[in-house]
Amino acid sequence: MRTYPITQRLLAGTPMGGAAERLGAHVARLGPLPGDRRRDIIPSLEASGLLGRGGAGFPVGRKWRAMAERRHGDAVIVANGAEGEPASFKDRVLMANRPHLVIDGAILAAEAVGAGEIVLYVGGEHEAAVAAMSRALMERGDERRPPLRIVTAPVGYVAGEATAAVHYINAGDARPTTTPPRMSERGVDGRPTLVQNVESLAYAALIARFGEDWYRTAGRSETPGTGLITVTGAAEQQGVREIELGTTVGEVAAASGAGSHAVQAVVLGGYFGTWARAEDVWDLPLDPAGMRAGGLAFGCGIVGLLPEGRCGVTATAEIMGFMADESAGQCGPCVYGLRALGDATARVARGRAEADDLDRIERWTAQLPGRGACHHPDGAVQLLASALDVFGDEFNRHARMRRCSVTRSRLDVA
Ligand SMILES: Cc1cc2nc3c(=O)[nH]c(=O)nc-3n(C[C@H](O)[C@H](O)[C@H](O)COP(=O)(O)O)c2cc1C
Ligand code: SF4
Repeated sequence: MRTYPITQRLLAGTPMGGAAERLGAHVARLGPLPGDRRRDIIPSLEASGLLGRGGAGFPVGRKWRAMAERRHGDAVIVANGAEGEPASFKDRVLMANRPHLVIDGAILAAEAVGAGEIVLYVGGEHEAAVAAMSRALMERGDERRPPLRIVTAPVGYVAGEATAAVHYINAGDARPTTTPPRMSERGVDGRPTLVQNVESLAYAALIARFGEDWYRTAGRSETPGTGLITVTGAAEQQGVREIELGTTVGEVAAASGAGSHAVQAVVLGGYFGTWARAEDVWDLPLDPAGMRAGGLAFGCGIVGLLPEGRCGVTATAEIMGFMADESAGQCGPCVYGLRALGDATARVARGRAEADDLDRIERWTAQLPGRGACHHPDGAVQLLASALDVFGDEFNRHARMRRCSVTRSRLDVA
């Protein structure tokens, strides 16, 4: 078996932050997409163990096989680069720097499942990514491939949810839909639609070139391979990194210039994720399968390091306020429930809690999951439930004593 160095992966090549890799350099570095592998790509993806990187971690090969084995209809591929999660930068960095790898992955998906059109759904506010993807498309010229177009996603957390993306592409409305049939049967223009995160597609393009065994040479824990993560918070070098899956939180923090003494808690997976005490997860492998089994979220790969001296209750209240604002406004439990939770959490954080705010927060946190048309409220509530666990004493102190022990301040003093 031929092995390749682990560095020859998504962010290999010229350093990030410069100009996007041009088509000539991309092909010179990686070679063209091999024609003969396109036929075999679905078994190869299945054997690689590649998991989707948009948040849910669904196996990519299984998704492509289900679409390829559909009974009828010319399919559409949507490459999801909306990235509305404020703490995540990995997709925009990938598209801005390695646009051709994403396009290769989308073309591969189209050929593997029999799709007649590709939509590159790129967050409109990610200007460098939009510019790089647009130029990369022009560089491709009239190469033989399915028609490919860019649709810029509107700003908004929910705009990247798969049915919201399809709804926006069809009707200019980025709100999730629940009406059957599912988009895998009737999505863009009424055709079977495969929505796949841009990082997932880029990895598929590498697996097509180098094979599943190469992909599996990386991965220190349960999930094979490498992945993009975004490091935020108490780190000197915040930003996007490519890690071998199974690398620990502590190793990522150290490589980003954050010592364990400087970090009190970690939010894993982003605004949809879970808080954990730093000491509990310092040795935790960043491994999607293992984390899920342990009740934690790899999500879209966010490692947010909360510095000592920053209040976890306030940080949680800010996230909950954002998530309430980002509700797509069409399901009562999400609209009113998230707003009520966001307001109550904000009152606690500011030392203005009403008598039963903490009880209400706990009650609503238990009641809300599963009551929206999409998973937006579920993600927000999961984050809040983990905050109650990790910062429970501090929530109590804020609500009942109107004091913050992290910032050492009285909160009811104007
Ligand atoms: C509220 C919400 C927002 C989402 N935003 C994104 C996004 O910005 N980009 C993305 O790829 N997936 C996003 N997803 C996940 C998508 O619905 C879908 O699962 C994903 O694009 C599939 O690609 P994957 O299998 O490669 O992960 C979001 C999901 C939810 C519930
Ligand atoms: S659950 Fe919330 S975000 Fe999702 S569709 Fe309903 S209102 Fe919109």
